[in-house]
Amino acid sequence: MTSLVKKLKDQVFRKKSSVEDWFFDFYRGIETVNIVPREQFVTQSENLHYANCYHGVWCSNLKTLIEEAASHGLSMKRFLDVGSGKGKACFYASEYDQFTEVEGIEFDPKLLEISKQNLKKFRGHQEKITFTLGDAAEYKMKDTETFIFLFNPFDSFVLNKFLKNNLETIRNKCVLAYSNHLHKEVLEVNGLKCIFENKERKTSLWK
Ligand SMILES: C[S@@+](CC[C@H](N)C(=O)[O-])C[C@H]1O[C@@H](n2cnc3c(N)ncnc32)[C@H](O)[C@@H]1O
Repeated sequence: MTSLVKKLKDQVFRKKSSVEDWFFDFYRGIETVNIVPREQFVTQSENLHYANCYHGVWCSNLKTLIEEAASHGLSMKRFLDVGSGKGKACFYASEYDQFTEVEGIEFDPKLLEISKQNLKKFRGHQEKITFTLGDAAEYKMKDTETFIFLFNPFDSFVLNKFLKNNLETIRNKCVLAYSNHLHKEVLEVNGLKCIFENKERKTSLWK
């Protein structure tokens, strides 16, 4: 494919996704679309320096990852979004019957508050979803089968800490979905294997 065709395809995908995502919010009574730069975070965490800005995941990218995992026989009941921001990924995942427990952890109190306000307004399965204040670098997961989702929340330093603290659970019981997987080499170094990758969308699944 020539690079011009590639560029055009990418632009069409981006336009389609932003329209789809705007409607996602509109129909559910929430707001997750607007970006929040890191300078506006109020967290006191020493890991702020490693964080990326808030940006809600595109529905289409998360859909691919959830459905691809299911096609590998990985249909976990629990969904965990690490760095959940305004809650977009959790709201989206809660619409799948397979997920009976949906949790988001977020280290910025202001974003966490927005996700909780969104949850009150959410026209959907509110009862499945919990948002908790937590820093991924210190977070200890429940030792249970989980679909872990990361949308490029932080750099390799925090990613490595999160993996190291939860490695046995992740290796034995989880599938990890990584969107905009800029630091995927850290997953490899920690012994995880890539079972799916979309190079254009920079998304992948790890076991
Ligand atoms: C790109 S946004 C993704 C938001 C959400 N996962 C989604 O897909 O809609 C990344 C989020 O990770 C959060 N984050 C960054 N570093 C974190 C850390 N150490 N612990 C917890 N959350 C963190 C940011 O505050 C931001 O809300």
